[in-house]
Amino acid sequence: MNKEAKLYQDLESILYTQEQIKEAVCKLGQRITRDYEGKNPIMVCILKGASVFFCDLIREIDLPLETEFMATSSYGASTVTSGEVRLMKDLDCSIHGRDVILVEDIVDTGMTLNYLKQTLMGRGAASLRIATLLDKPSRRVAPLTVDYNCFEIPDAFVVGYGLDYNERYRNLSDVGVLSPRVYTREGE
Ligand code: IMP
Ligand code: MG
Repeated sequence: MNKEAKLYQDLESILYTQEQIKEAVCKLGQRITRDYEGKNPIMVCILKGASVFFCDLIREIDLPLETEFMATSSYGASTVTSGEVRLMKDLDCSIHGRDVILVEDIVDTGMTLNYLKQTLMGRGAASLRIATLLDKPSRRVAPLTVDYNCFEIPDAFVVGYGLDYNERYRNLSDVGVLSPRVYTREGE
């Protein structure tokens, strides 16, 4: 999709273009390949937001990795978290003794990943690291170490490349700041 597309009219600005994202994802894939040499990690995609990032990232990793999918409760039609994390879809396999990499679209308050990390470590994972496309460290409330990120961003609500507002905009090729008129209009 190019920037003339109708969906782009709801963006205030473009934060990262598809070319910048591609380069960052490629570098991250190479880094993970080096860090996990000789291992076969389980890469866990946190649905739905991480799906686009996940599909691109795994194809930049030269390892005999396995893929799994999990889903947590979403924000719904809001730009702020409810503060409560619920597991909507669990893993299909045991992770006991395995090296796990959780792949997220964005770490905001950190509550989602803090909850998932504790849950999965409790199941006996040998190691667990977090890879995220975007990190908003200024918003953190839960203690959480992000092991890999592509970009650190300021406190703005962003969409595209898998990230949504009310389930829309995931199909934008770039990451952009959503124009506030979209959510004030819908909240009226
Ligand atoms: P946390 O639990 O507050 O860290 O929230 C993480 C989840 O909130 C992410 O997986 C996203 O689905 C959602 N989220 C947080 N910030 C944004 C944003 O700026 N745009 C879209 N989704 C977001
Ligand atoms: Mg979301």
